Amino acid sequence: MIYLKTAEEIEKMRAACDLVSRTLGEVAKWARPGVTTLRLDSIAREYILDNGGTPACLGYHGFPGTLCIEVNETVVHGFPSDRVLEEGDIVGTDCVVELNGFHGDSCYTFPIGEIAPEVMSLLKTTKESLYKGIEAAKAGKRVGDIGNAVQTYCERRNYSVVREMCGHGIGQSMHEDPEVPNYGRRGIGPVLRDGMCIAIEPMINLGSKNIVIERDGWQCRTKDRKPSAHFEHTLLINGDDPEVLTTFRYIEEVLGNRSI
Ligand code: MF3
Ligand code: CO
Repeated sequence: MIYLKTAEEIEKMRAACDLVSRTLGEVAKWARPGVTTLRLDSIAREYILDNGGTPACLGYHGFPGTLCIEVNETVVHGFPSDRVLEEGDIVGTDCVVELNGFHGDSCYTFPIGEIAPEVMSLLKTTKESLYKGIEAAKAGKRVGDIGNAVQTYCERRNYSVVREMCGHGIGQSMHEDPEVPNYGRRGIGPVLRDGMCIAIEPMINLGSKNIVIERDGWQCRTKDRKPSAHFEHTLLINGDDPEVLTTFRYIEEVLGNRSI
């Protein structure tokens, strides 16, 4: 069941998405060598609560954090911990906020200090592929057009696309229909229509596409332990011009020339 949002609901989506974007802007201030991922998690939790929102991942099917923490080879759903981030690491922080009954979902992968050039290229390509996916998200096109745009962009540059994890519809629930894979064929899948809200979230690996899920049932890493990157926006389908409801502006104001 795909829900098309009313004008009123879209206003609420905008507000939830602005709050999750600002939250990641706060996280950006702390994403440096020497900080623990638990610290990043409490920064996010407190900011969301102070602003009237709910950290939607916390307790979701038992998930233990406000943020999914994705250090280096972690693809998605990593737990906040007392691990100290070090120069050369990358850390994805994936966050979902609920505000007034609607959800905003976004993720940014931060470089910690100086990182290897090949890892920086992975981050840049992954972020660019997200925008390729967004460009493909036009009303009348299909979900497969988005996945195809992401996949083509990344594979041409010799990166691989994780298959098991997808983007998704979003609204009153964190995960709604349709599923939005980061791979696929043009012209297949559900038709995109005005009023649909979806989250596009490429998870792109430096090495092979294979992943392993830890025995806790959550934490997901690359099989070859090479780095993986993850960027995510929530958007509204709107004719030829999707409205990107989340923004990296707050993050990139903090990062300045360290932006991806
Ligand atoms: N962006 C992630 C997703 O769509 C957030 C989920 S976090 C969870 O899967 F922990 F709540 F699952
Ligand atoms: Co998501």
